[in-house]
Amino acid sequence: MVQDVIGSIDQGTQSTRFFLYDKDLNIVAKSQVPLAAATPHAGWVEQDAEAIIASVSEAIRQTMESAGSKYNVLSIGLTNQRETTVAWDSETGKPLTPAIVWSDARTAAVCKAMSDKVGGQDGLRAVTGLPVSTYFSAYKLRWMVEHVPAVAAALEAGRLAFGTVDSWVIYNLTGGVKGGVHITDVTNASRTSLMDIRSCDWHAETVAAFGFQKVLLPRIVSNAERYGVLASGPLAGVPLAGCLGDQQAAVLGQRCALGEAKNTYGTGCFMLMNTGTEAVASSHGLLTTLAYQLGRDAAPEYALEGAIAVAGQGVSWLCDSLGLIASPAESEALAASVPHSGGVYCIPAFGGLLAPWWRPDARGVIVGLTQYSTKAHVVRAVLESIAFQTLDVLAAMEADSGHRLRRLAVDGGVTKNRLLMQVQADLLQCEVVRPANQETTSLGAALAAGIAVGFWTREGLFAQAKGGEGTVVFSPQASPEWASKRHAKWKLAVQRAMALDE
Ligand code: G3P
Repeated sequence: MVQDVIGSIDQGTQSTRFFLYDKDLNIVAKSQVPLAAATPHAGWVEQDAEAIIASVSEAIRQTMESAGSKYNVLSIGLTNQRETTVAWDSETGKPLTPAIVWSDARTAAVCKAMSDKVGGQDGLRAVTGLPVSTYFSAYKLRWMVEHVPAVAAALEAGRLAFGTVDSWVIYNLTGGVKGGVHITDVTNASRTSLMDIRSCDWHAETVAAFGFQKVLLPRIVSNAERYGVLASGPLAGVPLAGCLGDQQAAVLGQRCALGEAKNTYGTGCFMLMNTGTEAVASSHGLLTTLAYQLGRDAAPEYALEGAIAVAGQGVSWLCDSLGLIASPAESEALAASVPHSGGVYCIPAFGGLLAPWWRPDARGVIVGLTQYSTKAHVVRAVLESIAFQTLDVLAAMEADSGHRLRRLAVDGGVTKNRLLMQVQADLLQCEVVRPANQETTSLGAALAAGIAVGFWTREGLFAQAKGGEGTVVFSPQASPEWASKRHAKWKLAVQRAMALDE
């Protein structure tokens, strides 16, 4: 018998994956296609926009080939690396320049100019929910307009189409220059710095401040509705019906209700707390962002987010750049070979610091070295930096929301590291809960696409037990005094990272 399933594309910074989910939320088929990034200058990270599309098509092909004829795909959801910016020519459908990736820090001068124009780093917060930062898409597009003649010419000619990765992928999957739809969903739009966070529409004044009046902006849509159908490939004719930025998809995949939070540990770390239908303004360095809007007529729901640029990337750096370990998997055993970091702290501010500091000028430091320090201490300090950065974000979240977190849902590849998860619980002084299904991001996109076509209901999904069999709970084993003493030292180390460029 042919089984009904929902497809889910997870277009991440390092790879693209395509999953099929059955009604009971089991993955029945999947594939993964790697995606390269180039770093042509220090602080720059870019990707070939056409390679992104090729990786999506290939992932769909591989999964469908392995699935055979057993499944009927009812709809497809998409989740994506956020903020990464693509500029294409609306007449040819071709990219005009490489995509600038979310972690790229080349736009410092653009940010400085905008910050001067809008009255400081927080000048756009009231409207967009975001500080001025190299992280967000509008600065990346502005950089392209100022530095890439083809982009400037397309703008002048009214042919400059802008999109984050969701827009670019949906445009291409639905036909590209031959009738592809040009849309973006509310969560991705909330990361551009062009959207009014409350009306969920482009904010004309901010668009003008960036000089984007003639840019072809995508139409903003909800996270769960029929956007169009796939134009070609093995799933031609299947509706694309769900789309969310990857971190918001994980909030949905973890089914975080009001006041609950999740942290995804990947290249970076992204912690989001569901604040319900209220867009909570942050005065502690967090972002106000969309969590999801599950249907065209549904009310938008919001989140407070703390984004950390370097988490797993710090562990990769230990392997690839320092050669201290052969693979990230080795970090746990080596770090566990010492009882503590021996007073060593590492701030992996490779391209500046994001939440809650927002200091593009910060750079990495390792402090507290003595003759006694070994590579085990350094590796442990790098692992602990992930937990400390999360602690900084949690402290800001509790201050902004007035809500004490009792439990943090976690996911992402780095959560396999049990030592790190225990240190995290010790430092946060709350339970850290790792569900058996770590594919919360792709699950979130599948849920949205399934809700849109009536395969699941939101109420039914949120009522289901979270986690399930195989869920691991890490409870604090250290005292609150120990945690606050170490946090105080960490904050002193963070100050060292910031002092370098002053
Ligand atoms: O905001 C950036 C985030 O969406 C990155 O995602 O693919 O590196 O996990 P990824």
